[in-house]
Amino acid sequence: MTSHDTTATAASVPQPAVRLDAVSKSYGGGYAVQDLSLDIAPGEFFSLLGPSGCGKTTSLRMIGGFTDPTAGTILLSGEDVTALPPDKRNVNTVFQSYALFDHLSVADNVAFGLKRKGVPRAEIRERVATMLERVQLADLADRKPRTLSGGQRQRVALARALVNRPQVLLLDEPLAALDLKLRRRMQVELKQIQREVGITFVFVTHDQDEALTMSDRVAVMNAGHVEQCGPPEDVYERPSSRFVASFMGTSNLVPGTYRSGEIVLDCGPALPVGRRPGLTDGSSVSLSIRPEKIWLSDFEPGMAVVSGVVRETVYSGPTTTYLIELAPDVSLSVLEQNTDRSRMEDRWSGGESVQIGWRPEHCLVLD
Ligand SMILES: Nc1ncnc2c1ncn2[C@@H]1O[C@H](COP(=O)(O)OP(=O)(O)O)[C@@H](O)[C@H]1O
Ligand SMILES: [Mg+2]
Repeated sequence: MTSHDTTATAASVPQPAVRLDAVSKSYGGGYAVQDLSLDIAPGEFFSLLGPSGCGKTTSLRMIGGFTDPTAGTILLSGEDVTALPPDKRNVNTVFQSYALFDHLSVADNVAFGLKRKGVPRAEIRERVATMLERVQLADLADRKPRTLSGGQRQRVALARALVNRPQVLLLDEPLAALDLKLRRRMQVELKQIQREVGITFVFVTHDQDEALTMSDRVAVMNAGHVEQCGPPEDVYERPSSRFVASFMGTSNLVPGTYRSGEIVLDCGPALPVGRRPGLTDGSSVSLSIRPEKIWLSDFEPGMAVVSGVVRETVYSGPTTTYLIELAPDVSLSVLEQNTDRSRMEDRWSGGESVQIGWRPEHCLVLD
């Protein structure tokens, strides 16, 4: 994705809450962020998703004013803030480490920013109480942070940022320190709170599930640039590159040559993917198909059905993953929901010859 779309609806859309225009940051040797252009709408839950080192934190720090870009412009609600220090931007940040004051109570932690801004006492009391209610910490207002659980401390940090009513809240992997179960719960809670307060969230994470669960839109980053930006369904169901397809959960990626509706593998077999008008015969491509889109039985007319051999069976509670070898060095993983208890005995084991099938429209042909 490059510069800003000026679509037909542009006139009715308000100023973006955040606009990055060709923003880069280089550190001597290479770019941490290169030529990044993004518009984030007011009230949007926007995630920057990507592997460690791809430039997420650097991007967030540039929006917050903690890192100066080497090139490009940053606008908040239409105002050029590129040269403004953090405290002159209507933005708050929640870090992974929470950074709470241990000697202050929960309520005083939340009140801290308002006191410093000289907000009247009565108003502080009311805003703090409302915010503690919202993050379900009202009962713990007088406790010290160190007596709280990780999830509770995380909510204090969130309340402390939100109480300032920033235009934009920046969150850098705020849930990373929590265990899986609590993280899942906090994802839902955080999304609920964001909807209630209506503040624009820019959320950094390396966790695909987290980004998919919480976001209105996700920007998938790789080596300092955005590979794809769109709603969760788009980046998951219709990845535009091999990187996105493989980073967004497990996908099968099989290289081959496109020829009249099939991808012909180097080692012989041809995998039906349906006609692709945009593709010329003989192009080098990759077939991408999600494990959950491959069927193991009860094929319907129009499905592509191929033969293979079961090489591995991995049972993981609600699902079972099979690795099906189609040819030497070409295997597909297939995910099956374990819905029907009676089929426990029917589960395939290694070495068995099987057939698998898919709908050609569920195949992506990349490159
Ligand atoms: N202060 C710095 N000095 C030099 N290199 C840096 C600095 N900060 C970040 N980088 C480099 O920039 C790249 C992106 O880093 P970062 O934005 O922290 O990535 P992420 O948050 O996605 O893990 C990395 O290669 C990192 O080593
Ligand atoms: Mg980071």
